[in-house]
Amino acid sequence: MSAFWSAWVSVITLAVILGCTWLLFATRKSQKFNDTTEEKVGHAFDGIEEYDNPLPQWWFKMFLGTVIFGLVYLVLYPGLGSFQGLLGWTSHNQWEEEMAHAEEVYKPVFAKYAAISVEELQLPENEKGLKMGQRMFGNNCAVCHGSAGTGAHGFPNLTDNDWLYGGAPATIKATITNGRNGGMPPWGAVLGEEGVRDVASYVLSLSGQEVDKDAAARGQGQFQALCTACHGTDAKGVQMLGAPNLTDNIWLYGGTFEKVAHTIRNGRAGMMPAHKDLLSDEKIHLITAYVYSLSNK
Ligand code: HEC
Ligand code: HEC
Repeated sequence: MSAFWSAWVSVITLAVILGCTWLLFATRKSQKFNDTTEEKVGHAFDGIEEYDNPLPQWWFKMFLGTVIFGLVYLVLYPGLGSFQGLLGWTSHNQWEEEMAHAEEVYKPVFAKYAAISVEELQLPENEKGLKMGQRMFGNNCAVCHGSAGTGAHGFPNLTDNDWLYGGAPATIKATITNGRNGGMPPWGAVLGEEGVRDVASYVLSLSGQEVDKDAAARGQGQFQALCTACHGTDAKGVQMLGAPNLTDNIWLYGGTFEKVAHTIRNGRAGMMPAHKDLLSDEKIHLITAYVYSLSNK
């Protein structure tokens, strides 16, 4: 803030306070009576008249108190232009102090749970740790995976034991720490529209859905040639590549004919953001334990 605007704000603020104080004393001075009186001020509105009473003492003192409070506040805290106040308070360093305090308080708690394995955190005696993981999941993950972890279109369900990348504690932890990029290439140009629909029919037949048998038969050969490198010869998926199982009727991007055809035609690129710069290892450990608990009841 420039010195001019700082002075401008300060002058107006102080002028308003002093103006109000002057008004208070000026009206008090012009009072005719120092005690309650039966005298009227002289005007009437709809037959309502006003006694010419002095300001009540309590009211006068409260007004003065407010003025003093205001001035003391403006000396101690920021309020007058760019003057920072004698206490040096800022919302930012208050926040930092609170964070530092929280860090101090929770550090031993996190350290305690960091030494307990993800499997052991599932035991009833570690329920508190798992609850902490749940709350952090709510703050950091629920926007995408849902508050119960059940996912949505494009965001995997974390409760069903069907994994893109794997459900072992170390794998879940790696997913959260480093993030993941799903890479399903688009096949529209390679297969043509007929080819896309044939392969989609074949893919759907793998999970036992009613499809055009001839189309599925035509699609099978193309699937073997183009898709098994990632999805596996049995089409049950390859977790190293994040390529999903196509035989279990669980779909990340929807299992209707049109949705599957769309996936094959245009490809997909799901992105799980890395959290290593957002969350400490100890926090990721507890979130991992919570995610693990969702499918290992
Ligand atoms: C911006 C949205 C977003 C946020 C936030 C997010 N995720 Fe994800 N997550 C995804 C997407 C999308 C995928 C699927 C990636 C893919 O398609 O390859 C995924 C995948 C995963 C997987 C792998 C699932 C599997 O089947 O292997 C796990 C585990 C996971 N997320 C846990 C978490 C946790 C825990 C958090 C919070 C710390 C979190 N995610 C935050 C979007 C998100
Ligand atoms: C380079 C490896 C790769 C190849 C080759 C590949 N896929 Fe995929 N596919 C993936 C990955 C990785 C995903 C998951 C994408 C994501 O997580 O966003 C996927 C997702 C899918 C899905 C979505 C599944 C769901 O649950 O919604 C379908 C369907 C699919 N692939 C079919 C095929 C077909 C058919 C072919 C051959 C024409 C093929 N893929 C070839 C890697 C591949």
